[in-house]
Amino acid sequence: MGDPQRSMRILVTGGSGLVGRAIQKVVEDGAGLPGEEWVFVSSKDADLTDTAQTQALFQRVQPTHVIHLAAMVGGLFRNIKYNLDFWRRNVHINDNVLHSAFEVGVCKVVSCLSTCIFPDKTTYPIDETMIHNGPPHNSNFGYSYAKRMIDVQNRAYFQQHGCTFTAVIPTNVFGPHDNFNIEDGHVLPGLIHKVHLAKSSGSALTVWGTGKPRRQFIYSLDLARLFIWVLREYSEVEPIILSVGEEDEVSIKEAAEAVMEAMGFHGEVTYDTTKSDGQFKKTASNTKLRGYLPDFRFTPFKQAVKETCAWFTDNYEQARK
Ligand SMILES: NC(=O)c1ccc[n+]([C@@H]2O[C@H](COP(=O)([O-])OP(=O)(O)OC[C@H]3O[C@@H](n4cnc5c(N)ncnc54)[C@H](OP(=O)(O)O)[C@@H]3O)[C@@H](O)[C@H]2O)c1
Repeated sequence: MGDPQRSMRILVTGGSGLVGRAIQKVVEDGAGLPGEEWVFVSSKDADLTDTAQTQALFQRVQPTHVIHLAAMVGGLFRNIKYNLDFWRRNVHINDNVLHSAFEVGVCKVVSCLSTCIFPDKTTYPIDETMIHNGPPHNSNFGYSYAKRMIDVQNRAYFQQHGCTFTAVIPTNVFGPHDNFNIEDGHVLPGLIHKVHLAKSSGSALTVWGTGKPRRQFIYSLDLARLFIWVLREYSEVEPIILSVGEEDEVSIKEAAEAVMEAMGFHGEVTYDTTKSDGQFKKTASNTKLRGYLPDFRFTPFKQAVKETCAWFTDNYEQARK
């Protein structure tokens, strides 16, 4: 794994979020190498929508490598409401981060896209070559176009300046330190919060939508290990999908059942079909990843759900909700 003697200072933007905290844990648990210095920052260190604050952060830290996670992030219902804000904030953050990295001579930047930015009308499975092949789903077009522009910028920085700026494309991420807000967060942490509330009040669980849409979920700690591999070993500018296999896709109903089982909830369950389902599926291919890492072992979904539910229950007071 890389050259252990090489000195690297790795700046992680979005270091206080779901994925950032997972990378921090994996590094602290032994994945960090001698000669590596990891610097995790949040919006308290710099508002990355602000060019001057972003430049000052990069001047201060002088990173050799960057993992760029910071973004305005949210689930389906927040995206539907705030497409303009998702577009503007993320475009500003990404342009400020990539250009500040270029200005201080960063060797490599790994940014984060998402499988929800792929074309809505597409063939399956989706792969890395298809990002720009058609409009994204209407529910999150602001977020999607802003994220797609990272790929455009990466290719342009390479073409004009030879920079190794690349991106990963995770599927739905979940784990400790997620945003468990029911209105604004993603489906799985929202379900965990709802099941917790239904269990403690003895009421029924209402799942939003039909329960039929299908998703590939990746545990944040697995994603963190893959991010570190990309940072050290992956040299392409073209992005790479980081996902469990197509056969591991689950329906929202199955995800809800895994949460109920993990939390020991045996009450009534209803599906509120007046709520939007979002995109029916976005099945992604992990063939490229498997070509590089045929033996990588993902944490089984039910185990990862169990660990996340336990973290939420144990940290209920402090959890983002
Ligand atoms: N969660 C998913 O399912 C998923 C799936 C695919 C891709 N992704 C991508 O993965 C990356 C990380 O997502 P996440 O789920 O970890 O998000 P998250 O938990 O919501 O964390 C977002 C992070 O971005 C920081 N941030 C937001 N606005 C900022 C600003 N203006 N200036 C500086 N920092 C700012 C936040 O800092 P504060 O804590 O200070 O607010 C926080 O550290 C994002 O790029 C996201 O698009 C996520």
